[in-house]
Amino acid sequence: MNIILMGLPGAGKGTQADQIVEKYAIPHISTGDMFRYAIKEGTELGLKAKSFMDEGALVPDEVTIGIVRERLSKSDCKDGFLLDGFPRTVPQAEALDELLTDLNKNVKHVINIQVEQEELVKRLSGRRICKVCGTSYHLIFNPPQVDGVCDKDGGELYQRPDDNPETVTNRLEVNMKQTQTLLDYYGKKNIITNIDGQQDIHKVFDDIDALLGATATK
Ligand code: AP5
Ligand code: MG
Ligand code: ZN
Repeated sequence: MNIILMGLPGAGKGTQADQIVEKYAIPHISTGDMFRYAIKEGTELGLKAKSFMDEGALVPDEVTIGIVRERLSKSDCKDGFLLDGFPRTVPQAEALDELLTDLNKNVKHVINIQVEQEELVKRLSGRRICKVCGTSYHLIFNPPQVDGVCDKDGGELYQRPDDNPETVTNRLEVNMKQTQTLLDYYGKKNIITNIDGQQDIHKVFDDIDALLGATATK
């Protein structure tokens, strides 16, 4: 099952992706996570992406499309994948369509997690991430059992550099501009499902699970 997870920054893509990939046993492909990993490793890709990410801007399409093309060709994607945060522009969506046609695949679901802007700002400002496994927590909405420590592996929690107030404003603005055109693009293909992302984390997953479970082939 090939799935795209859409939603503005802070909508809960990463949080839901963790649960989806566990239940449906498909790889989680987050372009944001791939860029952050490249920055940490100091690779050429990381150098290209860093200045854009620091400003809350989008990394250029050709760079982003290139890494997704490479990732989707790997063998673990053969029975399905979950894309988180890609595509984010119409050229990215078109490139994905071409690539999937070449690979003889298609997108089964585009899941759009909807959350109000005011709530997104609260979520991003209180988010903390595990340095080891990347799990997202929230100081108030989804706190770890022990302050500053990941429940899963004891890893230290940190704040993403692009979660500072100025960058958050820019990220939301940049993404809002792109989102509508992308929704129109997938709307025409009739594969979008809107999910109410303002509900409790478990309730959001129940809604996504009901959708995927109803159409899963295995
Ligand atoms: P990326 O890493 O994808 O960031 P983003 O889109 O800004 O989304 P986030 O990861 O911030 O939010 P999320 O939806 O995953 O929310 P989360 O689950 O963590 O991209 C980063 C950057 O990389 C971009 O700005 C860009 O520069 C570049 N980039 C990436 N992809 C690109 C592309 N395709 N093209 C070009 N550039 C690209 O949850 C957020 C918080 O809310 C957490 O604290 C969580 O605990 C909490 N929470 C989650 N769900 C709930 C709930 N239901 N109720 C209460 N709290 C909740
Ligand atoms: Mg994320
Ligand atoms: Zn962890």
